[in-house]
Amino acid sequence: MTKEELLRKYNVPGPRYTSYPTVPYWETVPTQDEWIASVARSLTGEESPADSGMEKQEGGAAIYVHVPFCSYACLYCGCNTRFTKKYDAAHAYVGSVLKEWDLYLDLLAKKDPRLAKPKAVRLSEMHVGGGTPTFLNPEDLKRLLGGIIDKCEKDPDAEFSIEADPRVTDRGHLQALRELGFTRLSLGIQDFDPLVQETVMRIQDEDLVRKVTGTARELGFTSVNYDLIYGLPKQTLNSVTSTLEAVRRLKPDRIAFYSYAHVPWLKAAHKQFAEADIPSGDAKRALYETGIRLLGEAGYREVGMDHFALETDPLWKSAQAGRLHRNFMGYITRHVSPLIGLGVSSIGDSWNVFAQNEKTLEGYLARLEKGELPLHKGHVLTAEDKVLRYHILKLMTRFETSWKNPALRVPFMDTLPERLGELVNDGLLELGPDGARIPEAGHAFVRNICMAFDARLVRKAPTTALFSKAI
Ligand SMILES: C[S@@+](CC[C@H](N)C(=O)[O-])C[C@H]1O[C@@H](n2cnc3c(N)ncnc32)[C@H](O)[C@@H]1O
Repeated sequence: MTKEELLRKYNVPGPRYTSYPTVPYWETVPTQDEWIASVARSLTGEESPADSGMEKQEGGAAIYVHVPFCSYACLYCGCNTRFTKKYDAAHAYVGSVLKEWDLYLDLLAKKDPRLAKPKAVRLSEMHVGGGTPTFLNPEDLKRLLGGIIDKCEKDPDAEFSIEADPRVTDRGHLQALRELGFTRLSLGIQDFDPLVQETVMRIQDEDLVRKVTGTARELGFTSVNYDLIYGLPKQTLNSVTSTLEAVRRLKPDRIAFYSYAHVPWLKAAHKQFAEADIPSGDAKRALYETGIRLLGEAGYREVGMDHFALETDPLWKSAQAGRLHRNFMGYITRHVSPLIGLGVSSIGDSWNVFAQNEKTLEGYLARLEKGELPLHKGHVLTAEDKVLRYHILKLMTRFETSWKNPALRVPFMDTLPERLGELVNDGLLELGPDGARIPEAGHAFVRNICMAFDARLVRKAPTTALFSKAI
């Protein structure tokens, strides 16, 4: 079968496995006390992903901070955002997130006396996403992120990264972020073609992006990522080619090349696109294949699903060294645990428990006002979940996994050959009695392979559209 035929055959809706179990299958919401107890055990080293066979951890905790505000409403957007022209709510939000962090520190101190001393949390990773974090002015960015960092012991090799919209990010923001220790910047680009930009209401020319990228580099950011999307309305092979030519000129260190998720039933703005303008089927696949080919020609290497990096970038080096990790933010260079999520809709992960905050700003603020952690959803992993999580994470980050160790095998895996036989016959997977390996030809199908390990999906296939197609 040709690559095109295989892409057509396996292009089914499926999860992107930023977690296992995937969010729609979470069912055992932790109480505040269960969540805090698990985070505390993780911070003191009493529980860790190593208990499930993962490599031994380096570093301390990771923190994710969500800033939902955006100055512009980009029509394609599928994220949890709050579009506003008013700044007051964002200024007040900084105080609320700091209050949430204080509440965490207070609850952790009460849970375990070892966490009662100042700076008991060792901070190894911080990721700030949105929305548009640089919606906040430099003073508020410093107040928010500095306020969180100052109450931790910061690892000397801590890695801090942030998402930004080039249209609202100036030297002052980048300067403040560098002073706080940020070295990684992820810019939302999506597409450089003027007609596509106008159609999706995201207008930012190459000069603007060059300026922001140049300023970031000049100030000492060592890794700049561009988010690109294929499958946007009015995209053509020519427009994708010219977008990638611009990328080649600007040379970001990393690229995320996402498939446009068209979800008009969830996002009203998507209804504004004419269906006829949205590439689908073979036309969308051709955009994907052209993009991947041009990225390869420009020196970008595939790191994992949707993610590419230059060989000089730490993400590629981490993939080569077998240290890559995947979580709700995509791929990152190492696995530290626990992950504490601050801000509206943020997700935390102690490996044994997932916990997500309230998804609306009003709900989030109201819960904090009551002096509670604003948890609203989550999942306490079962023993089977943890084994399957291990394999799915290995496949997503290493393209191989092994269950030689009997502790890494559960009865559900006895039926793997039935579910994976076709992928094996098509040369996309090597499946042995105690392990699986995805050869290069199968990399584009990694999520189809993970779906065979996803017991929750296999036992209860969705009856409504929960997931988008791979391409
Ligand atoms: C959480 S958003 C925030 C980024 C930032 N505010 C910006 O756009 O400048 C992160 C990325 O998600 C991707 N994204 C947003 N909506 C999408 C959609 N409907 N389909 C695929 N990717 C999408 C975009 O590439 C975007 O840069």
